[in-house]
Amino acid sequence: MIQTEQIEKLVERRASARQGGGPARIQAQHDKGKLTARERLELLLDPGSFEEYDMFVQHRCTNFGMDKQHYDGDGVVTGCGTVDGRPVYVFAQDFTVSGGSLSKTMSEKICKVMDMALRAGAPCIGLNDSGGARIQEGIDALAGYGEIFERNILSSGVIPQISGIFGPCAGGAVYSPALTDFTLMVKNTSYMFLTGPAVVKSVTGEVVDQEQLGGASVHASKSGVAHFAAQDEKEGIETIKKLLSYIPQNNMETAPERPSSDPVGRVDDALNSIIPDSPNKAYDMYAVIRSIVDDGDFFEIHKDFAKNIIVGFAHMNGRSVGVVANQPAVLAGVLDINASRKAARFVRFCDAFNIPLVTLVDVPGFLCGTQQEYGAIITNGAKLLYAYGEATVPKVTVTLRKGYGGAHIVMSCKQLRGDVNYAWPSAQIAVMGADGAVNVLYAKEIKADPEHAKEIFEQKKQEYEELFSNPYQAAMKGYIDDIIEPRNTRFRVIRALEQLASKRADVPAKKHDNLPL
Ligand code: HXC
Repeated sequence: MIQTEQIEKLVERRASARQGGGPARIQAQHDKGKLTARERLELLLDPGSFEEYDMFVQHRCTNFGMDKQHYDGDGVVTGCGTVDGRPVYVFAQDFTVSGGSLSKTMSEKICKVMDMALRAGAPCIGLNDSGGARIQEGIDALAGYGEIFERNILSSGVIPQISGIFGPCAGGAVYSPALTDFTLMVKNTSYMFLTGPAVVKSVTGEVVDQEQLGGASVHASKSGVAHFAAQDEKEGIETIKKLLSYIPQNNMETAPERPSSDPVGRVDDALNSIIPDSPNKAYDMYAVIRSIVDDGDFFEIHKDFAKNIIVGFAHMNGRSVGVVANQPAVLAGVLDINASRKAARFVRFCDAFNIPLVTLVDVPGFLCGTQQEYGAIITNGAKLLYAYGEATVPKVTVTLRKGYGGAHIVMSCKQLRGDVNYAWPSAQIAVMGADGAVNVLYAKEIKADPEHAKEIFEQKKQEYEELFSNPYQAAMKGYIDDIIEPRNTRFRVIRALEQLASKRADVPAKKHDNLPL
């Protein structure tokens, strides 16, 4: 009899904990167009797979009347479950309890699942919706953030870490998502900033609202802090699930395979005529990517940021690959600061998690000018160079058209330990384009004979093009491995990847590298 009562009490206590801050606050959350922490986890995890931990944990703060405000769980739901049958560890902040603010005990709960994820070698997914450090706890809350950050750092490169921002994420709290591999935000209901609009106004006089300062669109297109901007929470959760399907559980495993009926030997005649006659005309690199990957299915990362370079995941013959491609349709595919940062981060993720890299090159060079130089294009460009050079995963590169100067080197060339480097017959692998080269080499002759300047220019340009605007110079020296017919690209890349599946390569022993930050 006593045991029955004990069980009833447990059931009651669980039911109460599941209510978080209570029905009124849940309603307020819904009224804002937001889901609760538990509703989000329900969407994310396979039905019935959630194993919750620390449901009864309560804060230990006594300041400002906090000793009279206790909620089981203390504003965060933590545990593990599965997504498509694969284990993941999760924490979801519950805004209905003290605005999801971070107490010391909340940080202990989060750290517990982070530690478990690292031990189990499973991804850790954090769903953030929080007013930041719990003000009543002072320094204890700050210490809690420090504990989380340290775990983000130790887990980096060992297990995938994904942050979903489903509400406020402000102040130093933004640094946990920033330390993770991928950050997703939801349009109109989530925002991230170090200091809110009121503080910005008082310090700088600038008047700006939350959305303009740190909304999803801003971070997905301008700062690059967010890799994804979802229309709503449901789409956000679906995006996280899809992302998981391309990546492994940890750095010792490979990503799950996805068998496809798309024939390995499928050729695409359209690729034989995709390159425009004029080297200054654009074409759409997405068409090339979709043509060569399984079923045309490409999962893009950082879609709205630095659109002059494209990065994302796809499958080729069922295996997950990371695709990096210059986009001639935006800024002629030039490499600038943001494109370099974006691609470098992606290359490093793929390398850390055993995802082979397929690089499609059509790059006229680095963007020039004071804005880029003052913003340290040198250091930022070096990030991408470094990322490719240190990467030991299989690297297959295809140069479609331009591969000029330093940008050719950066984009996974042979000398950066590119494994298999192909070129299309339309490739121009050279120090620079013909116009620029002639202007440098024949400036004196052209100036000395203004009457025939155009003639001289055209003649020298033709000479230069014949010599350099093709892939044969590079092929003759072994800097590329073969010149391939564009229509065969899918087949040739897949075959290279298959041959490289058992690749072994390493870097000299070191404490850690010192990549150009
Ligand atoms: C304690 C908090 C809180 C916080 C919100 N609440 N933030 N309690 N500490 N940081 C409580 C509110 O008092 C309220 O409690 C409930 O949560 C809901 O908050 P509302 O303000 O009613 O909600 P809303 O209008 O949606 O506004 C959300 C908000 C706002 C914009 C996040 O609450 C806010 O500005 N909070 C403070 C943000 C902040 O300055 N945080 C500290 C940042 S510094 P009741 O009981 O009324 O429901 C920081 C340092 C981290 O985080 C450093 C790491 C290194």
